[in-house]
Amino acid sequence: VQPWSPPTPVDTWHLVAGADALRPGRVLPVEVGGERSLVAVGPAGPFTLRARCPHQGADLSGGRLDGERLRCPLHGLGFSPDGRCDRAGVPAAAPGTVDVGAGAVFVHPAPARGRVPLPERFGPLAWSAARPERVPVPWTTILVNAFDLHHLRPVHRREVVSPPVLDQPAPDQLRMRYATRPIGRGLSDRVTRALSPAPLDIHLTLVGALLMWVEVDLGRARTTAVVGLTPRGEETVLWLAVGVPRTLGWSLRARLARWLYRTFLRRDLPILRDVRLSPRSDLPEDATVQRLVDFLEARPGR
Ligand code: FES
Ligand SMILES: [Fe+2]
Repeated sequence: VQPWSPPTPVDTWHLVAGADALRPGRVLPVEVGGERSLVAVGPAGPFTLRARCPHQGADLSGGRLDGERLRCPLHGLGFSPDGRCDRAGVPAAAPGTVDVGAGAVFVHPAPARGRVPLPERFGPLAWSAARPERVPVPWTTILVNAFDLHHLRPVHRREVVSPPVLDQPAPDQLRMRYATRPIGRGLSDRVTRALSPAPLDIHLTLVGALLMWVEVDLGRARTTAVVGLTPRGEETVLWLAVGVPRTLGWSLRARLARWLYRTFLRRDLPILRDVRLSPRSDLPEDATVQRLVDFLEARPGR
């Protein structure tokens, strides 16, 4: 069986930085679909351009803001937020769409894409800014693992207590709803059980191809994780921001939630390191993964 390696998605929203990286007047170098881009915060708010200067190719992310214009570091030509150059005869720089929310900065490489769809199951939340972590597995492995309920018991010591329901709340989103109960004896299992005697009610939503919302209702505690994936060949930079309801002690609860998400992920990594995916399987337990693969392969403009 051939390992599954679809092309790296470009035409989708990308999580490129934590929200705290943006400051008025700052030019932030970012990576979007394997290409250098920038997010600059001008007087009218943030905008994004492809970093290659259309004049002679210098890296615009090393430039500076001059009012609302971005000045190229090489010859000083100015580019407005929509990409137009202040000198006639120089082609426009390529603008994309930038949006900020849920503790993170999101960029779509195409212009005028509106707002990134954000998780809203639990209403407005307080967010801790997204932080990057390099993990030694390809982006596809992380997505497949997220939709793989078959490994929950052996790897995460979680029992699935309700059959998963999959749907597409929007054409470019795949959502899986299910409930699990921790059955392990590790510290994080015991903390989770202490927070919630009832099963965990989980909504996992894939937005495009490189963003996931993980919304967990533990009864007394509610958390949302925003996960962004930046493919780097056989590795992935994984961004995690965590949101909790803004009530007393929220920052402590956000830290606890972040620890729970990271502990959960750490159980996967040693096992996934050498996995080369061939996700086609006829086992009924693997149906959710099959649905994910079908979704990714049917995406337009991938
Ligand atoms: S290369 Fe950017 S202004 Fe010349
Ligand atoms: Fe996992």
